[in-house]
Amino acid sequence: MSVARLRVAPVLPVYARQDLTFVRGEGTTLYDTDGHAYLDFLAGIAVVGLGHCHPAPLAAAQAQLDRLWHVSNLYWTEPMVELARRLSARAGGARAFFCNSGSESVEAGLKYARKATGKPGIVALNGSFHGRTIGALSVTGQPAKRAAFEPLLPHVQFANPNDVASLEAAISADTGCVLLEPVQGEGGVHVLEASFVAAARRLADKTGAVLLFDEVQTGVGRTGSFFAHERLDVRADGVMLAKGLANGLPIGCLLVYDDAPEGFAAGDHASTFGGNPVTCAAATAVCDELTDEFLATVTANGLVLAAGLAELDGIRAVRGAGLMLGAELDCPPAQVVLACAERGLLVGTAGTDVLRLTPPLIVTAAEIEQALAVLEEVLT
Ligand SMILES: Cc1ncc(COP(=O)(O)O)c(C=O)c1O
Repeated sequence: MSVARLRVAPVLPVYARQDLTFVRGEGTTLYDTDGHAYLDFLAGIAVVGLGHCHPAPLAAAQAQLDRLWHVSNLYWTEPMVELARRLSARAGGARAFFCNSGSESVEAGLKYARKATGKPGIVALNGSFHGRTIGALSVTGQPAKRAAFEPLLPHVQFANPNDVASLEAAISADTGCVLLEPVQGEGGVHVLEASFVAAARRLADKTGAVLLFDEVQTGVGRTGSFFAHERLDVRADGVMLAKGLANGLPIGCLLVYDDAPEGFAAGDHASTFGGNPVTCAAATAVCDELTDEFLATVTANGLVLAAGLAELDGIRAVRGAGLMLGAELDCPPAQVVLACAERGLLVGTAGTDVLRLTPPLIVTAAEIEQALAVLEEVLT
């Protein structure tokens, strides 16, 4: 099919796509239909953590494709059990529910909270993003994304990030779930303070709510630790993962800690494709790549990128953790994204005035320098 045909493809117009069609990826590089190379500092929006076509998840998925694709959750498969064991070990004891996306993992979390507490109230944060399904949208604190779909779920309150008084005001005896992103991604890359998250834990305990961390974007090494909440020293009752877990194959996961309130029983929740053997085999390989040494390089390279960004003209502030960074700009970020793409660098936006950088976690110091040089040219 010609490229021109692809660009007028019969798809519903929910995305503002750039006029680019990619055909191949390798490591931190993507190639378009004309053979042009692009340094990918977005990684499919914080998904392709090990880089495009990384040999470990590739070999694991290919081997599993040759063996078994799908049997449903009426039966066990070895890759699903292996992945659940890996994640439980990382979490210090938790049980997994597997699904296919971040939004689905949030839906699972909301249902778990309702079942575990029997309470309908949910407290989330202004500026948060938890997905586009009706439940996940209902707890997304961005009025512009919600407006066309109101009325959404009732009993949802929004507090301000890092504002304990506002959280106290939002939480009531009705609250069964407090839902937080350790670093807000889509909302503009805002880092939650440890003291705020500790207050959320205290308030949730006081009212009998469960505390859930949405680590769909921050999890799986993105911020320099397997879970971003490791830096917070607060234990939640459950954690959602998705994006980076299978390095680009669709997967989502709700982890419920072993010491959290009991919730789900057989028949309470399900997903036909959840725990698919191919995606679970790839995800297990991803987990095995994320050694302490690997994660230390994510932290170190994140600091180098953040420091380099902070020195550029036109950047007012740099926020984030590890390789999940946001640069607040003086000018509209969409223009910068297009100008970077014309020069072979892919970056994204978050919130209204933030340039988002989430390169593959394997990015090198030389590639960081290359990206900074392009940004310097575009911003001056
Ligand atoms: C924190 C967070 N939660 C949930 C989602 C929704 O994930 P998905 O698009 O896979 O449904 C996203 C997606 O950006 C996210 O960043």
